[in-house]
Amino acid sequence: MDVFQNQTLATHTTVRLGGNARYMVVARTEDELLEVTQYARHNQLRIMVLGSGSNIVFGDDGFDGLVILNEISDTNIDASTGYASAKSGTNWDEFVQQCVSNNLAGIEALSLIPGTVGASPVNNIGAYGQEVKDTITKVRVLDTDSLTFVELSNKECQFTYRNSIFKSSAYGRYIITEVFFKLAPANEDYAAPRYASLQTALNGQGILEPTVQNVRDVVISIRQAKLPDPSVLPNTGSFFKNPIVSQEKRDALLQQYPTMPYFAHKQGVKLAAGWLIDTAGLKGYTQDGMRVYDKQALVLVNDGTRSFQSLLNMKNHIQKTVYEKFGVMLEPEPEIIA
Ligand code: EPU
Repeated sequence: MDVFQNQTLATHTTVRLGGNARYMVVARTEDELLEVTQYARHNQLRIMVLGSGSNIVFGDDGFDGLVILNEISDTNIDASTGYASAKSGTNWDEFVQQCVSNNLAGIEALSLIPGTVGASPVNNIGAYGQEVKDTITKVRVLDTDSLTFVELSNKECQFTYRNSIFKSSAYGRYIITEVFFKLAPANEDYAAPRYASLQTALNGQGILEPTVQNVRDVVISIRQAKLPDPSVLPNTGSFFKNPIVSQEKRDALLQQYPTMPYFAHKQGVKLAAGWLIDTAGLKGYTQDGMRVYDKQALVLVNDGTRSFQSLLNMKNHIQKTVYEKFGVMLEPEPEIIA
């Protein structure tokens, strides 16, 4: 395998920021991944695995270690039972497309989310009423402590809203190589997820009994209308998590903002970060080559800055403005390595 030195990270992340990786290598099989992990351990190098770089931001100093570009890719789908799996470097939306073509339900509302299959359990990706934790059965990983391949059950992944063991208590320990799903063959009982904008769009098109393909198509059209395509306008999708607050906090805010959207959540009430940023007057706000996206305030687009500092300044400005107005602290959603 070829190990390259001093490679820019900006071209490997969808927000197009970040300094250099000291070393970079491509892994195409589990064996190559194991080999390169052993190499890193032998040379005492930190490791960072990159899929399509759609939910990660590097600082201007880059990464002083070994970046592994994950190109381990393959899918396996059984249309009759609904069991499906994909290797971690597979493009997420190609996998969704294949499952939908096989008339399998469970991830169709997650259509067009940028990234790889391997990133899906890390962030427990979710959209339009579906979350990937509800269909994942197990995750195959390389345990970098023992240098062996093991499988983690759904429960062991400790999924919560946009979070998992891979981002929290076991951060950096596991490299995901394959994700296993149990989907449902979509029969006549199939019902689209109950999510307001999705239902409105389906009704608007006169689709009363949607198929999984209908749901996929409608989700793609909503996303294309509201979210910037990272290959045209560099971004990382939602830049902040939707904050979870107490019922009391929600009630106090509702007194002042009666139309504020909110959603029931196990740990309290989930507010819409996009609405908070928008209502704080920041939609379309620009600063230092960064912009709060005009059609969805939760997304920050890079209009041409080359410096991570511009993104950091924008993040701080938004956090401060929203905190001063609503008393709610927003937390970034992508992983920030700086
Ligand atoms: N809203 C505004 N102004 C805005 C944006 C949103 O008022 O600029 C309001 C909307 O009108 C709506 C509420 O906020 O009442 C929620 O907005 P939306 O349905 O667009 O969803 P979101 O909470 O902003 C989440 C996910 C998205 C996912 C959508 C659709 C997070 C952090 N984001 O956004 O995921 O596509 O739901 O289900 O949970 C991502 O994670 O990168 C991502 C794009």
